[in-house]
Amino acid sequence: MGFIADALNRVQPSQTIAVTTKARELKAAGHDVIGLGAGEPDFDTPDNIKEAAIKAIRDGQTKYTNVEGIPELKDAIVRKFKRENGLDYKPSQAFVAPGGKKVIFCAMMATLNPGDEVIVPAPYWVSYPDIVSLCGGTPVFVNTTLADKFKMRPEALEAAITPKTKWIIFNHPSNPTGAAYTAAELKPLTDVLMRHPHVWVLTDDMYEHLVYDDYKFVTPAQIEPGLYDRTLTMNGVSKAYAMTGWRIGYAAGPEVLVKAMTKLQSQSTSNASSVSQWASVEALNGPQHFLAERAKAFKDRRDLVVSMLNQAKGIECPTPEGAFYVYPSCAGCLNKETPKGRFIKTDEDFVTGLLEEEGVAVVQGAAFGLSPFFRISYATSTEALEESCRRIQRFCANLR
Ligand SMILES: Cc1ncc(COP(=O)(O)O)c(C=O)c1O
Repeated sequence: MGFIADALNRVQPSQTIAVTTKARELKAAGHDVIGLGAGEPDFDTPDNIKEAAIKAIRDGQTKYTNVEGIPELKDAIVRKFKRENGLDYKPSQAFVAPGGKKVIFCAMMATLNPGDEVIVPAPYWVSYPDIVSLCGGTPVFVNTTLADKFKMRPEALEAAITPKTKWIIFNHPSNPTGAAYTAAELKPLTDVLMRHPHVWVLTDDMYEHLVYDDYKFVTPAQIEPGLYDRTLTMNGVSKAYAMTGWRIGYAAGPEVLVKAMTKLQSQSTSNASSVSQWASVEALNGPQHFLAERAKAFKDRRDLVVSMLNQAKGIECPTPEGAFYVYPSCAGCLNKETPKGRFIKTDEDFVTGLLEEEGVAVVQGAAFGLSPFFRISYATSTEALEESCRRIQRFCANLR
């Protein structure tokens, strides 16, 4: 019996942070390292949003607020869901937390009992299984494949559902693959969920605005209104408005759930930062034109990275619809040796070799529950992306 809670033993330390730490150490020791591990836009928060925060401070909006968010932000959330997703919510169905991650945590903590299962399609964002485990639930993974462009098959979803299934955590555009479902691809999945009325849907739409070409974003309750009464539609300002440090995530869903999440938040963090909430009112209500401009910059970077990676020997990289990640396979690089005599057996070996021999930091697929792949975040400069892809090409070409 140690001092630290058993619940914490069910949780893995973040492997994405481990890679970032190693890259930072190498950099500090004078090595030339390019980090492609970060999960945040390299753009700055737009000025109108910063100004709204400064005004809030000047106006004395510096006190506790309602636990579940200020009325002005809940109204902005209701308008956003109507305008962009065609979903009708009342302000009493809206919930604001210090970050999207905290929204998910509140939803799980407020609903899971020991033995409850939560379906998590793999590869997944690293935090889902750990949040589920911390809250006493059991993550159940549904694997996807490169051939399916990492999209879940309806029959695989159906097979994973048991009487104990409480939730599915659905995320698209996906971290780590960038995959996003079209309406036609999503409908067969919502059809499966309609056959299992005991399963609730937490949809993480965080990357909604980072979509490319003619892809049109859709969210489950929009495709299948029959799911509305058991869907928590989650979103946030972190990725779309380059506001990762402000810590604001939000959601809307059935009142009974929102009330339970509010109760939990009242005894944990209380309200999200008042100043950040006012900044988020401006983010959601203010001008939206820069979203398309930034998406265009991300699309150009995606195209560059996908094309250069597909020229690397042994790498196969599908073109994702959204987010700022690609998830190439390194299957063709396994069971080979680097010029320095390192044997590459797993994606973790590949990633370590790439970092130590070429100074490029990426994250192994094992961290996201599907190997042998690696994740690249292309939220960095074109020059850094070109140089790192050249190094990846050289690393792969030198494997024997
Ligand atoms: C899919 C996904 N959901 C949620 C989050 C968390 O966002 P926030 O910064 O609002 O907690 C992230 C951040 O990396 C993410 O990638």
